[in-house]
Amino acid sequence: MPAKFITFEGVDGCGKSTISKEVCQALIDMGHEVEWTMEPSENWLGDQVRRSYSEEISPFTEAFLFLADRATHTDRIRKHLADGKIVISDRYSDSTIAYQGALLSDELIKQGIDSVDWLWELNNRIIIKPDVTFLLDIAPEISLERLNTREELSKFERQGYLEKVRANYLRIASREDRYVIIDATQAKQTVLNEVLLILKEKV
Ligand code: TMP
Repeated sequence: MPAKFITFEGVDGCGKSTISKEVCQALIDMGHEVEWTMEPSENWLGDQVRRSYSEEISPFTEAFLFLADRATHTDRIRKHLADGKIVISDRYSDSTIAYQGALLSDELIKQGIDSVDWLWELNNRIIIKPDVTFLLDIAPEISLERLNTREELSKFERQGYLEKVRANYLRIASREDRYVIIDATQAKQTVLNEVLLILKEKV
């Protein structure tokens, strides 16, 4: 079965937005019909998610905001796939498992629950499983240096936190065959070439 639903994941500053857009264009140039999409979404649901970045909210509220956005995003993805298109998403369910998993781990472990497993289970009720997921892997120490040129970092962009997020991604990758780990410290063109080489075999 050719790959139809492709996701890009990684910590802040890993370069996935640029790479996923260029991959989308490359697949279009190869003659495929492709939809590029992202989370948080570019609509009112995504706006509420983005608004939460600067609010003091419960980490559970934050997780459910991402999930609410994802449920509707998934409906759009389902429609594109039914139309025979390839869908490329810049972030999807693994972002919640990695990021909110890191945020909720201390709280949930007190209840004897593994936050990654719990969010995994919640997401599984909502999502379409991607055919391929590219993890653009990079140490947060390096990715944050890239972001430091921007004026203000968001609450997600702290090194200690992103190290937990990265560890969660690597944990998900170790149990999911769909994962391809790419060294995102390489030059952008090298990362792009590696992704396209793999995708040419899969789409
Ligand atoms: P972006 O930097 O790719 O635009 O993503 C926005 C931020 O939101 C980024 O710091 C990662 C975070 N995020 C989560 O914490 N959980 C999620 O489920 C998603 C989709 C993003």
